[in-house]
Amino acid sequence: MTSQAVKVGTLTLRNPVLTASGCFGYGLEYDDFYDVATLGGICSKGLSLHPRLGNPPERICETAAGMLNAIGLANVGVEAFCTEKLPTLRRRGVTVIANIFASSVEDFVTIAERLNREAGVAAIELNVSCPNVQEGGIEFGKDPRMCARVTGAVRRATALPIWVKMSPEAGDIAAVARACEEAGADAVTAINTIRGLSIDTDRMRARLANCTGGLSGPALRPIALRIVWELAGKISIPIIGIGGIFTAKDAVEFLLAGATAVQVGTANFSDPCAAKKIADGVRVYCESRGLSAQDLVGRARP
Ligand SMILES: Cc1cc2nc3c(=O)[nH]c(=O)nc-3n(C[C@H](O)[C@H](O)[C@H](O)COP(=O)(O)O)c2cc1C
Repeated sequence: MTSQAVKVGTLTLRNPVLTASGCFGYGLEYDDFYDVATLGGICSKGLSLHPRLGNPPERICETAAGMLNAIGLANVGVEAFCTEKLPTLRRRGVTVIANIFASSVEDFVTIAERLNREAGVAAIELNVSCPNVQEGGIEFGKDPRMCARVTGAVRRATALPIWVKMSPEAGDIAAVARACEEAGADAVTAINTIRGLSIDTDRMRARLANCTGGLSGPALRPIALRIVWELAGKISIPIIGIGGIFTAKDAVEFLLAGATAVQVGTANFSDPCAAKKIADGVRVYCESRGLSAQDLVGRARP
């Protein structure tokens, strides 16, 4: 048996496979399928200061090699998460990464402070792919300076590990990642969705009520892998790879490129057991080669 544990900064994960935010509910929904505590961790649906209903339907549609979503960040809000979801997750021993988003630095801090009062949160993941209303609606994640400001403010508000989720739409992702590292991030997650569009030619209108949506799934994978590869050469904090991971081989590619762990998103919609199967497959890959999961990290790099 080779070890599947990986270290993301100060946090040790049982294995390198987690589920991605927005693609696994709050974890408990998957209870009937398998023991979610066997995963490396789960990332909660993005949590805001107050509950949100999100966008009207249609909110998702299938595309050639993935899907588009414009859910509009529907969620129960941080308070209901802490009182209604977290206690059960904690009891079951699930490693919980709380994904959070806000449209101001102050709200990011308030959410982080609320989570900081709870036991059972292993790390906070900042979804910075949302507009900063105080600065003309530019996405935090597109600007190194704004991303550093939100990371630094959350850093001062909590001792919990902070992962910052990179937007692939930033002009210079490495500059954003470096700014987050300098501001005290413990890891970066790469990547979030890329905006896309699909039109229904019978109805002659966009398939999604929001018109555009975030593209996820296999179409994203080579782009995400390239970004992980490039970031691994430019930052020294761990990288969590994400984008179109559907098989154990896909996950291994990300680890070999330099990711310390991976997240599985869209694959959960076609197979609710995808993340568990991927974690089992990574273990088999390691055991057949006498390597630990940590041994794989960056092994394909020159
Ligand atoms: C339906 C849906 C909802 C999502 N919601 C969130 C969210 O709330 N917060 C976040 O940071 N990312 C969210 N994402 C992005 C995913 O976590 C992930 O970064 C992206 O889908 C790429 O990974 P994948 O190809 O494995 O799905 C969402 C993605 C999908 C498909």
